[in-house]
Amino acid sequence: MALNSVTVRVPAKVNLQLSVGPRESNGYHNLVSVFQAVSIFDDVTITKSHAGSGVTIAITGDQTHGVPEDGSNLAVKAAHLIGEKFDIDTDVHIEVKKSIPVAGGMAGGSADAAATLVAMDALFKLEATREELLELGSQLGSDVPFMIAGGTAVGTGRGDQLTAALSRGTYHWVFALSSVGLSTPAVYSECDRMRAELEVADPKVSDTLMQALLSGDPELVGKSLSNDLQNPACSLRPALTLVLEVGREYGALGAIVSGSGPTVAFLVADEEAGLDLAVALTASGVVGSVARATGPVHGARVI
Ligand code: C5P
Repeated sequence: MALNSVTVRVPAKVNLQLSVGPRESNGYHNLVSVFQAVSIFDDVTITKSHAGSGVTIAITGDQTHGVPEDGSNLAVKAAHLIGEKFDIDTDVHIEVKKSIPVAGGMAGGSADAAATLVAMDALFKLEATREELLELGSQLGSDVPFMIAGGTAVGTGRGDQLTAALSRGTYHWVFALSSVGLSTPAVYSECDRMRAELEVADPKVSDTLMQALLSGDPELVGKSLSNDLQNPACSLRPALTLVLEVGREYGALGAIVSGSGPTVAFLVADEEAGLDLAVALTASGVVGSVARATGPVHGARVI
């Protein structure tokens, strides 16, 4: 029987390293980005609809605020893009059940686009190769290929050229969420502004972080986290500095702004330490809400 609908579960990401090189002539920055996929998921369901109805989208779940329900949504763009590539009529309804924070530096929009590509491939039996899906993903956004791949990976170029990274063990995270997002282009611009007088080196993968991931020791990984967008995000949102401090004070092994923020990620030793930190952060009053997760987890896949 032909399938009428497919659901794909897709994770969020945290950057264990985000090194930002100079702005290139295409407006993008050369990056070294070490990604880890973490267990906060969006579920994207694609259902075939009547011929001529085009692509429609609805957002449900606990993180809907500010997500566009029109053609500007990256998931809608993904459906059109893969439809054009494989020459099919894209009459589909996309339902995104969102748990990934919106504009939070955890690649929520990119995750939904990645899930849409994987779901369209399954629903229409396109049999796209992994390389084709990754290539379409990179046309949609720098983080989209990683949301297809999942696990732990190094992204170079715009962050979209992936190599798998060796990592042992499971890492426990606590995320401090903000109710108001930060614009990624604005954070990159602030980064440029803050470094205007400085010589900016080409980014390199941190050997210390790679060794730490191989060892599987969260204490070493915690000490090796780095993000060049952290100071720019804190400059635009000074309250984040306090959130980072409170998390460190309450025993986080590592504290870092996730991607372009404003989500702050805390690495902890184990599940119990995560619970303790989540309670302490909530009680401190400096954090709106918290989420706990583990990583690495798989990328976008049909459920
Ligand atoms: O690729 P994506 O559309 O996700 O990027 C969003 C924005 O982030 C870009 O418009 C750009 O301002 C900034 N960016 C950048 N350099 C990168 C990736 C993103 O400047 N390598």
